[in-house]
Amino acid sequence: MNQDLTIADLKERARRRVPKMFFEYADSGAWTEGTYRANEEDFHKIKLRQRVLVDMTNRSLESEMIGEKVSMPVAIAPTGFTGMQHADGEMLAAQAAEEFGVPFTLSTMSICSIEDVRSVTSKPFWFQLYVMQDRDFVLNLIDRAKAAGCSALVLTLDLQILGQRHKDLRNGLSAPPRFTPKHLWQMATRPFWCLDMLGTKRRTFGNIVGHAKGVGDLSSLSSWTSEQFDPQLSWKDIEWIRDRWGGKLILKGILDEEDARMSLDSGADAIIVSNHGGRQLDGAASSISMLPRIVDAVGDRMEVHLDGGIRSGQDVLKALCYGAKGTYIGRPFLYGLGAGGKAGVRRTLEIIRKELDVTMALCGERDVKNLSRNNLHKDI
Ligand SMILES: Cc1cc2nc3c(=O)[nH]c(=O)nc-3n(C[C@H](O)[C@H](O)[C@H](O)COP(=O)(O)O)c2cc1C
Repeated sequence: MNQDLTIADLKERARRRVPKMFFEYADSGAWTEGTYRANEEDFHKIKLRQRVLVDMTNRSLESEMIGEKVSMPVAIAPTGFTGMQHADGEMLAAQAAEEFGVPFTLSTMSICSIEDVRSVTSKPFWFQLYVMQDRDFVLNLIDRAKAAGCSALVLTLDLQILGQRHKDLRNGLSAPPRFTPKHLWQMATRPFWCLDMLGTKRRTFGNIVGHAKGVGDLSSLSSWTSEQFDPQLSWKDIEWIRDRWGGKLILKGILDEEDARMSLDSGADAIIVSNHGGRQLDGAASSISMLPRIVDAVGDRMEVHLDGGIRSGQDVLKALCYGAKGTYIGRPFLYGLGAGGKAGVRRTLEIIRKELDVTMALCGERDVKNLSRNNLHKDI
């Protein structure tokens, strides 16, 4: 994997290693995938100011996100089904992130459970919460995240109902995988993935099965998940969630200045400017295009983070220049994981760190915390 020099290289390796239905689950957006594409494309429109003859020694990428030290301001985004990109995927990615010194966020819809991830890590990770209609289940999840020592709750707000991804429907995606001839063929052509999968028991939603009422077995799981997202979730709900949790709270899925101001009033510690990686509202603006105005609206009073479309350290740098205090990567770490498990996630982080470091130097900066709009061209 050391010959993989870019996130695109890791993506191609993952494509060859992961069964089609799971690879495409990651590499897909809602409907026309217009917002999915815009998330990446809009980064390319931003031009960096090249500076020369400045001292480039002693550079630092260290920073803080919600008061926690990070070796670079790049966290692992919460992603569902991660244990289907690679056996025990969440556990491996969490370990890679911990060793690298960046936050790992575990999804509610993970394959490995909160307790699984806790059992293989020694530092606190972050937990992402979907608010389900079964409030007892939600309260219990919050308590489990607390008991596992999670240091932040990331509350996702942009999935009250599910957007539609055509690839998933065409592939007949499910967890655990179904064994139709088509699915069997997709798996049979990925023997290394199969071998790893045979070596683990974790093949369904670990946070849900055995914890949610009426979901003791797998047949009851799919109807439960599709019915459980709460279309009536409101700003009022943030209050009881915040009270029950009692720790750092990050609101994920903010793409509008007005919602950013409401987030501020809700008492959250940070927001993530995000459109769910283009997987929900197709036609929504890209995350990076909305970042400057959201920073202008609330950035002096709360931390603003960003995810969506980051494929390089240069993209990270551009987000930081626009005022993001932290960024998250979804697909880049999934491709690394699919390509090579824990070593693949480490490779993803190494590639991004190297690119961020060199880009920062060539922009004439030595400390990631000093980046600002001054490092970008305003009119090109
Ligand atoms: C395969 C996949 C699964 C995801 N599952 C979740 C999830 O369970 N919870 C959540 O809050 N966001 C989820 N997201 C959104 C990510 O947290 C993040 O917002 C997005 O991936 C960022 O865009 P990027 O993939 O371009 O980096 C998912 C994204 C992908 C690609």
